[in-house]
Amino acid sequence: MLTVVNHPLIKVKLALMRDENTKSKEFRENLDEIASLMCYKVFEDLETHQIDETYNTPTGVELHKEKLNNKIILAPILRAGIGMVDGVRNMIPTARIGHIGMYRDEETLEPHEYYFKLPQVENPLVVICDPMLATGGSAIAAIDAVKKRGYSNIRLMCLVGCPEGIKAVEKAYPDVHIFIAAIDERLNDKGYIMPGLGDAGDRIFGTK
Ligand code: PRP
Ligand code: URA
Repeated sequence: MLTVVNHPLIKVKLALMRDENTKSKEFRENLDEIASLMCYKVFEDLETHQIDETYNTPTGVELHKEKLNNKIILAPILRAGIGMVDGVRNMIPTARIGHIGMYRDEETLEPHEYYFKLPQVENPLVVICDPMLATGGSAIAAIDAVKKRGYSNIRLMCLVGCPEGIKAVEKAYPDVHIFIAAIDERLNDKGYIMPGLGDAGDRIFGTK
């Protein structure tokens, strides 16, 4: 299950993010906006129901308020996933936020979990977010960790990936729907996506 969300507005913003001259502030703003735009696809199939509470329109009609059937947990993979949280939360203010601390060993490219906290919610839709899907190791480890805590309705929301990472996640977890804005050519020998956009965490937080 793979959806490439290649809307023209996303393409323009992503091209700005790829530019090495784009500064951290503009990088973050574009990531934020792309995350909001992607919500249209990621949550497109969710159902809603009317609740008892009502409101009146300016035209004098009383209507029932509408709510999503699913409770949403947004689970960013630290650090870079944090850059997608506000964009999604602006669209779904009721989303609860978890955190999955994961870093990639620079030599082995193996993921290491260092923090995990998700809100306790009954039958939620858990959306794991991370801008970069490279080898797929971090995403697979994050899905593992979420499943281990008993959650089964999981989606993965990424910005840029490559065929290697997508195949790895699809093989490990065919039930997890991947939403991604762009599939790039390949991984380089250091495990970076080509052409990609460099180190997303460093560019979001200005650490290099
Ligand atoms: C980056 C990125 C992903 C991971 C992708 O994080 O944000 O989490 O690498 O690579 P993979 O698909 O090969 O696992 P990194 O570990 O560099 O941590 P950071 O976000 O703290 O910079
Ligand atoms: N992590 C990043 O931030 N960028 C890549 O290209 C690969 C992993």
